[in-house]
Amino acid sequence: MLSGLKSMPDPNILVGFDGKDDAAVYKVRDDLCIVHTMDFFPPVVDDPYDYGRIAAANAISDIYAMGATPLMALNILTFPGCLAPWVVKEILRGGNDKALEAGMNILGGHTIEDTEPKYGLSVIGIVHPDELLSNAGAQVGDQLILTKKIGTGIIATAVKADLVEPELEQEMNESMALLNKYALEIAKPHNIHSLTDVTGFGLVGHALEMAEGSEVSIKFYLDEIPYFDTAEEFASWGIIPAGAYHNRNFVGDKKVVEGEIIQAQEDLVFDPQTSGGLLIALSPEDAANALKDFEKAGHLAVIVGEVVPAEDEPKIILTTKGN
Ligand code: CO
Ligand code: CO
Repeated sequence: MLSGLKSMPDPNILVGFDGKDDAAVYKVRDDLCIVHTMDFFPPVVDDPYDYGRIAAANAISDIYAMGATPLMALNILTFPGCLAPWVVKEILRGGNDKALEAGMNILGGHTIEDTEPKYGLSVIGIVHPDELLSNAGAQVGDQLILTKKIGTGIIATAVKADLVEPELEQEMNESMALLNKYALEIAKPHNIHSLTDVTGFGLVGHALEMAEGSEVSIKFYLDEIPYFDTAEEFASWGIIPAGAYHNRNFVGDKKVVEGEIIQAQEDLVFDPQTSGGLLIALSPEDAANALKDFEKAGHLAVIVGEVVPAEDEPKIILTTKGN
């Protein structure tokens, strides 16, 4: 965050540093906004093609999280000189395939040498100002739909320790490579109030951004959240990535626990996600209709919580359906 730095006033900046939103938004005309984001990270999986498509899906996701359509992208790539050329090619091929699936081309980029590979995209999208979706806008009484399973940080940590079955690893890779394009397309006709994607801050961290942006509190039912198989078990063994602890600190005392919850489930909602799903706030009626469309499309979607009034300040309430 560079929000402490100087900036100059510009009425066309609709979303900048202060909004804690997914991407920057600039209004270029009354009927057109540019949405701009970038993201890159070191390998999260062994296969270079998978890594490329996951990094790209993750970067493009912030465009969808604003309700926008991706238009074009640039590659950002670093790698050690000793890396075999075919590996670099596979990373770029994975990224390119995802960009094409998203309906855009990668028009260039920049590569430098570094001790470890890092890959991602800078993406530009467009949206009509009236269709812009942000962290703000969630209303008391809304339900929250989540569109991908939780636990990629914990499972990826367990993969490194050789504890994960190949089927589960494959399922997680496919989930991370899945574009949030489809979830946005399904939910969009149902009057989305607020939207974000679940990535590095974990489910609770990103929900807090939505809560603060919307001046509400958000209540999660931990027993309703879709977790990857065995993720709870791994969490209970203490297989938790460092990022989960940072996310806990980030949320701090804005987390409230109501009743009995399972510790491993709490660990999972702080787990940093790579290319996680969308978190969508809609009225209960719209949420019910959206769920039917998700089911028809064969796309995962689960109601994981609801929007409640913020008492003195926006908070995240962790509870279970039984409480
Ligand atoms: Co985001
Ligand atoms: Co991002």
